[in-house]
Amino acid sequence: MCGIVGIVGKREVAPLLVDALKRLEYRGYDSAGVATIHEGHLDRRRAEGKLVNLDQKLGQYPLAGRIGIGHTRWATHGAPTENNAHPHFCSGIAVVHNGIIENFAPLRAELIADGAEFHSQTDTEVVAQLLAAYRKQGLAPRDAMQKALSRLEGAYALAVLFEDQPDMIIGARSGPPLAVGHGSGEMFLGSDAIALAPFTDEITYLNDGDWVVITCDRLEIYDQAGQPVERPSQISRGAAYVVDKGNHRHFMEKEIYEQPEVVAHTLSHYIDFAEGRVRLDTGRIDFANLDRLAMSACGTAYYAGLIGKYWFERFARLPVEIDVASEFRYREMPLPGKMAALFISQSGETADTLASLRYCKDNALTIGAVVNVQESTIARESDVVFPTLAGPEIGVASTKAFTCQLSVLAALAMIAGRARGTLSIEDETRMVQALVEAPRLFNEVLNAIQPQVETLSRELSRFKDVLYLGRGTSFPLALEGALKLKEISYIHAEGYAAGELKHGPIALIDENMPVIVIAPHDRHFEKTVSNMQEVAARGGQIILITDEKGAAATTLETMATIVLPQVDDIVAPILYALPVQLIAYHTAVFMGTDVDQPRNLAKSVTVE
Ligand code: G6P
Repeated sequence: MCGIVGIVGKREVAPLLVDALKRLEYRGYDSAGVATIHEGHLDRRRAEGKLVNLDQKLGQYPLAGRIGIGHTRWATHGAPTENNAHPHFCSGIAVVHNGIIENFAPLRAELIADGAEFHSQTDTEVVAQLLAAYRKQGLAPRDAMQKALSRLEGAYALAVLFEDQPDMIIGARSGPPLAVGHGSGEMFLGSDAIALAPFTDEITYLNDGDWVVITCDRLEIYDQAGQPVERPSQISRGAAYVVDKGNHRHFMEKEIYEQPEVVAHTLSHYIDFAEGRVRLDTGRIDFANLDRLAMSACGTAYYAGLIGKYWFERFARLPVEIDVASEFRYREMPLPGKMAALFISQSGETADTLASLRYCKDNALTIGAVVNVQESTIARESDVVFPTLAGPEIGVASTKAFTCQLSVLAALAMIAGRARGTLSIEDETRMVQALVEAPRLFNEVLNAIQPQVETLSRELSRFKDVLYLGRGTSFPLALEGALKLKEISYIHAEGYAAGELKHGPIALIDENMPVIVIAPHDRHFEKTVSNMQEVAARGGQIILITDEKGAAATTLETMATIVLPQVDDIVAPILYALPVQLIAYHTAVFMGTDVDQPRNLAKSVTVE
């Protein structure tokens, strides 16, 4: 999604803006631009595609100035052309924007009726035009800003420059986050603290509805009603992280290989290793007295939630209602009293997940959140936060956040099982023991299967379609496998519950449709083997991901059989995520796609 930076200070800002934008690249974008004010003159450079194009343009046509704003755009309204790239200008006003102005069409019509001329297809340009119109009516920048904000509907983070105010940037937030960074004689604006990490670690987050005026040594924050408000500053952890690939070719690869460490780190937060039991304060969520748990999330986080549902229902006998957040928020689901809600999000900023959270909050439910970014809006608006300690995830395709989410959900399901008296101490101890040993196994597995997965991926890269099958907790993993493959390799892939095969997808099976079957030797194994037989009988090629017992029990000929160690049911989906991720990763590498920033995708989806 779009990234915003702003700097008002004492140095030449154009190169600094580009550096900060580079740190926001992970969010996904398709064009970029910067604007500065120099000697009372507002100017900009914009370029389609990657930041390197903008960098080149700035090399040819440098931009001077000690105040400026920058933007990476993830196109919503209008193609990713230079003309639609931000900053958008109108009468000495420059605007960058993240989000969607939902009422842009009536605003645009109104402005055109008043004589405005639009130069882009974006929704953003209405903000620049609106501000210009209010300035023409004689309003000072702050008043124009407040009036313009009162007209906007939708979700936005904004940064605005006024040519006649060469020492001031105005920022605003309604939905997507915006952070102010405090420097010495310099102030910064950024979509997140990671972007501002090279400049400062002292960060003030704006609340929803806030807008802010920054100069080189001051910030003034106002709420929606225009009243001055104080928001605390904090030392951000964003600065502590080095955002580089180390020895890896891609962030995604690095993040896959970080999993033994970050899963161990996350588990150690929730497990008392000495006691061999889960140690977890669920705060206001009283699992013992719940009738139901509502869960919601998007993308990979949703699939983590689906696996969590199996665990909550099996180990805690707690019924779970789960839906993708874009449906959940409009489903008008009845939310009876003895229900709590749990949201899962890496970024903690996903618009639909946040809206679902607010829906539950309005219905007086206690809100829990499994989030990776602790300063995020979802974390701040929840009653209880269960952190995943994955560290910053830069690759657009989520990997380590997913396995950390599963680790937290496993711990939560166990604690719920204990609270509800449905999980015996023996079972809890056995599962904890299995989880404790998991990170070591992850390391072994990653190293052991890598050559085989590479060979297999080379073959897979020749196909146009791939089917993933699984039962039980392997079913959401099949969905996740298909999502991973399609999002980074662009090979069409579908995930299905193995039992659904004969209700449709079997019609597609032939030698051109490899079928990846995720089947640990668990209580579903025999049934899944029957489904594999059905595939084999129709000439389908099978790639089986199983364990030693599963491999020994199957006589079917496969294109490849990836054999993992025997593990407890609670560990299986976490462990089996590794081959699933590696297959997608290596296939994408063979296809030569942009693995970390796949086309059209964004890391943090702050629009509906
Ligand atoms: C985007 C990302 C996915 C992610 C999903 C949910 O689609 O590309 O990797 O799973 O958003 O994001 P969240 O930050 O809420 O986990």
